Amino acid sequence: MDVITSIGDMKAYARLARSGGKKLALVPTMGAVHGGHLSLVRRAKEECQAVVVSIFVNPTQFGPGEDEARYPRDLAGDLVTLGPLGVDVVFSPSVVEMYPQGFETFVEPGQSAASLEGACRPGHFRGVATVVSKLLNIVRPDFAYFGQKDFQQTLVVRRLIKDLNLDVQVVVCPIVREPDGLAKSSRNAYLSAPDRKAALVLHRSLRRAEELFRAGGARADRVLNEMRAVFSAEPRAKLEYAAVVEPVRLEPVEVITPGCVALVAARLGTTRLIDNVFLGATEEGDRPRSMDGTE
Ligand code: PAJ
Repeated sequence: MDVITSIGDMKAYARLARSGGKKLALVPTMGAVHGGHLSLVRRAKEECQAVVVSIFVNPTQFGPGEDEARYPRDLAGDLVTLGPLGVDVVFSPSVVEMYPQGFETFVEPGQSAASLEGACRPGHFRGVATVVSKLLNIVRPDFAYFGQKDFQQTLVVRRLIKDLNLDVQVVVCPIVREPDGLAKSSRNAYLSAPDRKAALVLHRSLRRAEELFRAGGARADRVLNEMRAVFSAEPRAKLEYAAVVEPVRLEPVEVITPGCVALVAARLGTTRLIDNVFLGATEEGDRPRSMDGTE
């Protein structure tokens, strides 16, 4: 496994891999690698002959007062974890490599970035769209792998690929969870023991939404009330939003149909967590075919 830090070297490697006829995969991450990231890497390995994992804590996607400074960084540990998976390259540029003096051009997403995470974290998706565009231009992969954990991010990325005519196929992988249901996240490391327990409320509220929907509860307002009630029973968690939306434009629905997505964001102390689930899916991460309309 090579570790590449310069954009020029990364481009040269990618050019060589492509000219050798290899299908090239990019798995963009901010490191502190966990089982969620690894599921993307494994999928990429299955489908491509050359796999690049980028590790870059992207400053432009953090707002003022957010957790950029304390975001967990452990490149050495990440390399040990990724080594046995057969990753070909870890691309780990510095901040000045990606944003040198004079950098001034950003990718500004539109409607897909306006609500939910975009509303709670102004500028977040502008930073994500910018760095993902840069990474896609540097590596020019055939496939890029993202997690459903960041559902809105997958929509923003699909949209920018379409709008900027980039030649890459997005693969979205299901959410990987801890055995008790908490979605894996680099930010889980911040949680105190009591907050770690309380954090299960996110998954509990989504399971409740799923149960209600399966039992024939198609009215979104009722489902949302029940989701909020689950949060009310957990005073350590501060709900930022609970939403049930259709999966293409992320618009709130009144009547839930299979394929709608229930999403939550909440704070446990100073740690902000997000989670979501497709309603009416047969298995986590499945999208009911009738609603697979994001392209
Ligand atoms: P990061 O939070 O490190 O996540 C990297 C990728 O792993 C994302 O596509 C995310 O959705 C996926 N992922 C995280 N937790 C997951 C889980 N429990 N199950 C499945 N997939 C999971 O998302 C980012 O970094 C950044 O915004 C990035 C796209 C790298 C741009 O900076």
